[in-house]
Amino acid sequence: MRNFVSVQDVSNIDALVQQALAYKANPFADKTLGINKRIGCLFLNPSMRTRLSTQIAAQNLGMEAIIFNVGNEGWMLEFEEEAIMSGTSVEHVKDAAPIFGKYFDILAIRTFPSLKNRDDDYSELYIKQFIKYAGIPVVSLESATLHPLQSLTDIITITESFNETRKPKIVLSWAPHVKPLPQCVANSFSQWINTWGKADFVITHPEDYELSEEFTKGAIITYNQNEALIDADFVYVKNWSTFNDYGKIYESDPKWMLNNKKLELTNDAKIMHCLPVRRNVELSDEILDGPNSIVTQEAANRIWAAQSVLAEILKTNG
Ligand code: CP
Repeated sequence: MRNFVSVQDVSNIDALVQQALAYKANPFADKTLGINKRIGCLFLNPSMRTRLSTQIAAQNLGMEAIIFNVGNEGWMLEFEEEAIMSGTSVEHVKDAAPIFGKYFDILAIRTFPSLKNRDDDYSELYIKQFIKYAGIPVVSLESATLHPLQSLTDIITITESFNETRKPKIVLSWAPHVKPLPQCVANSFSQWINTWGKADFVITHPEDYELSEEFTKGAIITYNQNEALIDADFVYVKNWSTFNDYGKIYESDPKWMLNNKKLELTNDAKIMHCLPVRRNVELSDEILDGPNSIVTQEAANRIWAAQSVLAEILKTNG
């Protein structure tokens, strides 16, 4: 594996999952794999889980992890080719990325979308420019449209939580929120579950919240949340803003929030969320504090997903 920015960089999802579970059982099995190697983790946006789990994963492999909060502490970067930099940006990625390439062995980056211009966000300019100019492997810590480390984590969590021989039924259920959020987690979860191909996958959301078919193709999509929840083994709860009329909130109807009454429709489903979560807006206290929630297990698994990916990159790239 050279880069890790989407499921398309992965040749065998199950192998990556099994490697992650092996690291969960034995975190220091490859404690010298990354010795004398350094990962630079660049954050253009806030993070708790991604930042800490990636740092721990790198350390478990013997790597040094250096965190740089570019968004708060660095020079404002320019990403457009041939930009006339007479505005607020101070340094071009074309100049900065090769320097990161000299300082580090792997570069990991978190960026968010602007949610203002869909074509710009979906072009994934930021991460593509880092890949183009850094000259070292690049890992997405969440980009404008995808969150692949989260999705790998989610499949790890589903794999270890489902012990039946049949396929699980997985429902991605839209939830209300107070502000427009990216489509990254929902896009990425859909892309990974569809590519994995080992689940009956249903997406439910209000009208006007369609995601891009590029990611959802293969899933059953319905506006009827109650119908979707019937016999679900896993319910993945997430808000996202509109895709077609880009980056808007039309619907924040509390009836879309999952509660114990809705849970009765499911097959005693495990409830997942990438976190952070707005309690009693996206998910009720009774669900988050109840026995069906596996959100802490899911967040803890971020370490093993990151460790599995970093190990794969280290093995491939020396
Ligand atoms: N789920 C997730 O990416 O969490 P952070 O934003 O805290 O990293």
